[in-house]
Amino acid sequence: MIRKKGQIIRLDTPHTTLVVKADSAEYLYYGKKLASTVGFEYLAGTPCKMFSQYGFDDYTEPSVLLENADGGFSTAFTYSRSKILTEKPEIPGLPSSYGEGKTIELKYVDTPTRVALYLYYTVFEDSDVIAVSSKLVNASKKELHIRRLASLQLDLLGDYSFVTFEGTWARERQKISRTVGKGVFYNDSKKGSSSHNRNPFVMAEGKDGVYAFNLVYSGNHKEIFEACESGRTRVLTGINDFMFRWTLAPGEEFDAPEAVMCYAPDEDGVSSEMHAFVGEHIVRGKWKKKERPVLVNNWEGTYFDFNEEKILDIARAAQRTGVELFVLDDGWFGNRCDDHRALGDWYDNVEKTGGGLKHLADKIRELGLDFGIWVEPEMINEDSDLFRAHPNFAMRIPGREPTRMRDQLMLNLADEKVQNYVVRVITDVIARSGAAYVKWDYNRSFTDCYGKGVVQGEYFHRYMLGYYRIVSRITKKFPSVLFEGCAGGGGRLDLGNLCYLQQFWTSDDTDARQRVKIQDGTSYGYPQTIMGAHVSACPNHQTGDSNPLETRFNVACGGVLGYELDMSKFSEEELEIVSKQIAFYKEYRKVLQFGDYYRLGDAFGGNVTGFMTVSKDKNTAVAVVIAYEYIIAGPELTIGFKGLNPAAVYEVTTREQDNYKDVLSFTAGGDLLMNGKIPMRDLYADTQSWENSRRLYARMFVFKKAK
Ligand code: DGJ
Repeated sequence: MIRKKGQIIRLDTPHTTLVVKADSAEYLYYGKKLASTVGFEYLAGTPCKMFSQYGFDDYTEPSVLLENADGGFSTAFTYSRSKILTEKPEIPGLPSSYGEGKTIELKYVDTPTRVALYLYYTVFEDSDVIAVSSKLVNASKKELHIRRLASLQLDLLGDYSFVTFEGTWARERQKISRTVGKGVFYNDSKKGSSSHNRNPFVMAEGKDGVYAFNLVYSGNHKEIFEACESGRTRVLTGINDFMFRWTLAPGEEFDAPEAVMCYAPDEDGVSSEMHAFVGEHIVRGKWKKKERPVLVNNWEGTYFDFNEEKILDIARAAQRTGVELFVLDDGWFGNRCDDHRALGDWYDNVEKTGGGLKHLADKIRELGLDFGIWVEPEMINEDSDLFRAHPNFAMRIPGREPTRMRDQLMLNLADEKVQNYVVRVITDVIARSGAAYVKWDYNRSFTDCYGKGVVQGEYFHRYMLGYYRIVSRITKKFPSVLFEGCAGGGGRLDLGNLCYLQQFWTSDDTDARQRVKIQDGTSYGYPQTIMGAHVSACPNHQTGDSNPLETRFNVACGGVLGYELDMSKFSEEELEIVSKQIAFYKEYRKVLQFGDYYRLGDAFGGNVTGFMTVSKDKNTAVAVVIAYEYIIAGPELTIGFKGLNPAAVYEVTTREQDNYKDVLSFTAGGDLLMNGKIPMRDLYADTQSWENSRRLYARMFVFKKAK
């Protein structure tokens, strides 16, 4: 709800209140929901601003920086007007959140340059997340250049630690918390994508609670965190200003991507607000609330080395276990026998598919499985028919040797011709295979940013606009298809992509031990419904570690379950174990995929960790409790479950696992189960079976409200 009284504008979400003063662009209050309705005028005069600029005595990092037509950088945006909009405006060319809500539009004008700055704050009835965006409009007759336009500025009074989710390929989103003291810290990506290295989801944690921020964008981003001597902490989030210089011609507007923010008393609160928001206001279409199928993907099972028989062998074994979808990964097209060639040649390799994509897809469907397909639409190999025919489709700087990553170049998506080409060929792949699922991969970062006619300072963003045009056109054409994003694992897992692709491959690291942290870190800002999580072979292909099949399953239940190994090599006994796993998963799929998600223990600190999902009515829950290591004669292992109804009584059982045959069963009150001291001695019960070394200990609990 938004209320305006004079210059005071108040935005209420179910549990938070934000109060701003329009004419002075000040934040007066943001935090826990207030009952009081008076006294805000008294707070005016704070140093906490909704935007900032160069040219005053504020030397903190500015949210707006323009290079004016006269060559100067100073601006003096002053208040013009504000109005409440009943419909949330779309952001041209960019993804954004959607749903019923109210938006306040605030306009500020820099009189000498006749440039207007617009700020938008949207609140949805059912969400504690506030969507914020900004735009610049050049009403003058002269061209100017935008050097920075943050999507969101939040100034807070007090000291905060800055929490980021960092890593690299196969080690994405590791939680890092820092106290900046006084000074500037930033979290960014210059790779052209939101990146494996630094996710745009960040948090500021202080004595008053946790503020969380994210950006609805998949390209270069920057989150600046500046703690000033004055006691003010500024958070900016938006497009990275690295190599950014956008020309704003007379009459043109520039729209910054949407940012989102929320407040909660603690990290769990922030995660549940973000999860609900992503599920309700970011993810769209038929799959928004639909249970996701259990899939098998052939990548780690075969890599490029497969033929029709091999694929059908895997599919037949998968079908016996209850798998619902077969995903044919990289290698089915052109002359793609390894990763040096054929990207761009999206026609069937008849030999490897035994007669073409449709032929193989039909055979899979005859087995009762849906068919899914892998594509990497934004890339090109120099050894490809596409490159031979259209070398100018590739992103490269004329006269320079291009940088190759995984031996591939990127397509110049800033070019409309290339965009149209990609839409056409990928539409054809999906249509001719009848795919029910598409894995959209992206396996390198930008280097040779160049497009004919594109000013270099605009290239990164123009590419993103091209990418969004393509992905929105293709996903609109196939509303029933489930799209899973991928970027060498989780290198482009962000809210921008989730507006089109309903889930994302969390990481190329499928090792259960590593996955515990990767999935846990991801869960701070993103719900489990969007995280692809697969059971893979042992020894694990990334780390060489081994974990029991049951442990790998338990960990993969923290996301959307799949199997990624050659299932035709399973023994009868293993097929039996997997069949039981999948039957269990299907029984609890709704609560596992769409229940409220809680982190247990501390994945980045202690020895005991895990996760738990609880049905909306709190009658059913599933928890996975994990110990990283067996500490001989170590401290008592205990856990506190979360999210249960404290007043209810639950029947608690453990899932029968092949390596934990004894099923635990007891009845306990919700308040007792959540007191933090439930013993987990049983976790070590299989220490006698040493078939796997260096393994995790993981056990799954089911909670049912007693009648
Ligand atoms: C990277 C992905 O993350 C893998 O799952 C697989 O699809 C390969 N690309 C295929 O090239």
